[in-house]
Amino acid sequence: MSTTQPRKILVTSALPYANGAIHLGHLVEYIQTDIWVRFQKMRGHECWYVCADDTHGTPVMLRAEQEGITPEQLIARVHAEHSRDFAGFLVNFDNYYSTHSPETQECANLIYRRLKEAGLIEVRTIEQYYDPVKAMFLPDRFIKGECPKCGAKDQYGDNCEACGAAYTPNELKNPYSAVSGAPPVLKNSEHYFFKLSAPQCQELLRRWTREKGRLQPEAANKLQEWLGEEGENKLTDWDISRDAPYFGFEIPDAPGKYFYVWLDAPIGYMGSFKNLCARKGLDFDEWFKPDSATELYHFIGKDILYFHALFWPAELAHAGFRTPSKIFAHGFLTVDGAKMSKSRGTFITAASYLAQGLDPEWLRYYFAGKLTNTLEDLDLSLDDFVARVNADLIGKYINIASRSAGFIIKRFNGQLAPADADLPAIRAIQEAAPRIAELFEAREFGKAMREVMALADGANQYVDRVKPWELARREGQEVELHAACSNSLNLFRLLTVLLKPVLPDVAKKVETFLNVAPLTWDDTATLLAGGHGIQPYQHLMTRIDPKQVAALVEANKASLAPADTTASQAAPARAAGHSPQRHGEKQQHEAQAAEAAAAAGPHISIDDFMKLDLRVAKIVEASQVEGADKLVRLMLDIGEEKPRQVFAGIKSAYDPAQLQGRLTVMVANLAPRKMKFGLSEGMVLAASDPEGKTSGLYLLAPDPGAQPGMRIK
Ligand code: MSP
Ligand code: ZN
Repeated sequence: MSTTQPRKILVTSALPYANGAIHLGHLVEYIQTDIWVRFQKMRGHECWYVCADDTHGTPVMLRAEQEGITPEQLIARVHAEHSRDFAGFLVNFDNYYSTHSPETQECANLIYRRLKEAGLIEVRTIEQYYDPVKAMFLPDRFIKGECPKCGAKDQYGDNCEACGAAYTPNELKNPYSAVSGAPPVLKNSEHYFFKLSAPQCQELLRRWTREKGRLQPEAANKLQEWLGEEGENKLTDWDISRDAPYFGFEIPDAPGKYFYVWLDAPIGYMGSFKNLCARKGLDFDEWFKPDSATELYHFIGKDILYFHALFWPAELAHAGFRTPSKIFAHGFLTVDGAKMSKSRGTFITAASYLAQGLDPEWLRYYFAGKLTNTLEDLDLSLDDFVARVNADLIGKYINIASRSAGFIIKRFNGQLAPADADLPAIRAIQEAAPRIAELFEAREFGKAMREVMALADGANQYVDRVKPWELARREGQEVELHAACSNSLNLFRLLTVLLKPVLPDVAKKVETFLNVAPLTWDDTATLLAGGHGIQPYQHLMTRIDPKQVAALVEANKASLAPADTTASQAAPARAAGHSPQRHGEKQQHEAQAAEAAAAAGPHISIDDFMKLDLRVAKIVEASQVEGADKLVRLMLDIGEEKPRQVFAGIKSAYDPAQLQGRLTVMVANLAPRKMKFGLSEGMVLAASDPEGKTSGLYLLAPDPGAQPGMRIK
């Protein structure tokens, strides 16, 4: 009924940067895409979902250097973390790869060569800020200085966080390099440009962006704005090279020049797919040739529309490849109506959510319920999250099965009676299924979920009317009880099909419990036969306890706060009755591991340890604190612009004069604490006897040769 000709569909989500953790904002995109892909697969289409880490660029290079590891080591670690987080939220990529791969490099070189042959690459000398100490050109965000408008200090090179003004780095007053602190100098360098302003690019993009369905109306309007009126040449050429030192791919015929990260990032989609093709025996060219009959969709956030709707199709078309069929942009996540915030604890990482024992399918359902196919932002209201999940998933959906299954097992030997195909609640679901399929196809997941819940209301009304629990108490009502429970379980099975793209783990458990093959969309047209045997009901999902959500927010505040308190902060989630059984095996494992770590059992994970930013610190100044009998005021140099002030309770063991000039170890990412005497911006480490048999205190010190600011791990 639903499936006609199988389609060949390639789907991507944007490639997350390899220098940060996955958070709930990211998950809006990956969960949205995953739901759509699972839906396509359930319809019987050939659908592949690829992604990768976006690994190149200056931030990755500098961060690796800061951590004292190679960029390759950094991206390998992050790749493992990202893969773990996505798996934890049941985001089921067919390939999760890396842009730092031979396939991506090969495609990037080929595209570059073809663009060059087409006369679309030009070399120009430009003047750019350069850090003379670090010997590198500085991207805008690595130049800081005073805002030209309001004079606020330490503002980034592109905009002011104090007054919101936007400007270019050369407008900053007293600029300095965020890398070395040195004042930058202007220096010339040859850069490679992709000639987006060339007539053939303008023409192509005008045509392409107007083609029906390529872009959502809001996105198409943005593009019109960027492209300008016919004849108005608004597009400027795109600088696609960066000078060494840079972590990326060297441009084949330009030693010392590297492709800018945004040049090879979308090519990473091709690289990831190429890698998949080799493993699955797929024909890459069939999918990427100009007249390909396959479909290509990119799910992205609205912030990266420019790259995907302008540069990317222009590059592809002029390098002899197909262009995307459609680009699906979404809005941004807010939490409780505001931008995610670290200090409020609403910058919630994927890992922390799972570590607190929250069920990933709760969030998948909540996001699904809020998603539309527009660029509008969506809000995670934490109270609404608890209320919605408990009311809909537990109260309306799970409830249907839990009220009926036991009787079938206990009274009817696990065997169903034939379902009543004319039951209005059953017919309603079967009639709605094609409409709900259209909503999934159109990425109107919120509308789809509302329809499904209305159908679940209908199913519950049926159960409430026939009251299996009363039938069970009466003599001679066996036939009625059998019919009621069998109809209920059929209703439950049909609803499960509709929810399967959103709740894949629950669906899997339902398949086991109902003893059926993996459900596909066509199963909406069928019912379970009389005599079909089911397995004992197994627990499918628990309610959310609001305490768990409160603990999650606390834990995300805590990630900035003293490390020795994380144990107590994680404890409420355990007390709230978290049962790991509700997770898939993999997550169960991780949730338990993380929980064990948080509970300060015998082990912590390496990730927990890595949260501590321990630095070699030089005590540049040490002084008495007036009115404090235990404290010494230390000024600690850890390679930052200004030394940090720390109040340390070491007066009983040290004379401030002795301390001046020596090296020690400090916790650099402890939340600053306001004390009577001033702000304490960290903590120094000292040994002492836990039993207090001796009152000695011993400050830690690194071996000679260590420099202020070095990371300790
Ligand atoms: N590396 C680039 C994408 C390259 S694609 C060839 C990038 N990475 S990102 O990690 O910053 O973001 C990855 C995706 O997550 C983007 O589509 C971005 O829009 C999305 N989101 C990041 N934060 C988000 C929210 N707070 N809310 C919704 N989506 C968000 O951009
Ligand atoms: Zn300002």
